[in-house]
Amino acid sequence: MTDDIRWHASSVSRELRASLHRNQGAAVWLTGLSASGKSTLARALERRLVERGVFAYVLDGDNLRHGLNSDLGFSPEDRTENIRRVGEVSALFVDAGAIVISAFISPYRADRARVRGLLAPNEFLEVHVAAPLEVCEDRDPKGLYAKARSGKLLQFTGISAPYEAPEAADLVLPTHELTPEQATSQLEELLVKRGLLS
Ligand code: ADX
Repeated sequence: MTDDIRWHASSVSRELRASLHRNQGAAVWLTGLSASGKSTLARALERRLVERGVFAYVLDGDNLRHGLNSDLGFSPEDRTENIRRVGEVSALFVDAGAIVISAFISPYRADRARVRGLLAPNEFLEVHVAAPLEVCEDRDPKGLYAKARSGKLLQFTGISAPYEAPEAADLVLPTHELTPEQATSQLEELLVKRGLLS
């Protein structure tokens, strides 16, 4: 970074922004295997929150890889860059006063820790969407596990690429044992418990 680029602070305070919505800014970070239920839960939570007047918005891996991250693949370096970018975007949404619901496999602990480091302690909620590999593979909505098993798709998380589960998640959702409604309610309750919704 050179001296030629300067940071400009906003003249709008967090409090003033928060007064416009029924929530504080925060990131709900959903991490888990492909087909674990991240996107389904993200959409369900977004809908519930918006219906109660909350400024909520979903960032989803599959969607962002169509645009902002369309230049990235699934090598370890590209996944790290994917999470770095979406972490920065998530932090901007939090700064703007949103509850941003970020749904990414985000398989590396260090990458998730870096995102946590961009935010204040109460602004980053790490949620492990924890369906076991067998269940995700059985669901296989896009046929990707089958492709990975047959060697047609390389570096697939859980099969030929690692997934590092959170060691101290703010919430663990075993989606194979919960209905989507139950899991969504647990997410909403977490936000209430942390004082992020009013
Ligand atoms: S991450 O690992 O970089 O966090 P991200 O959440 O953005 O991944 O994208 C995951 C989605 O990309 C999966 O839901 C799946 O549909 C698709 N995908 C395609 N190839 C792979 C792969 N090799 N590993 C994991 N997901 C893949």
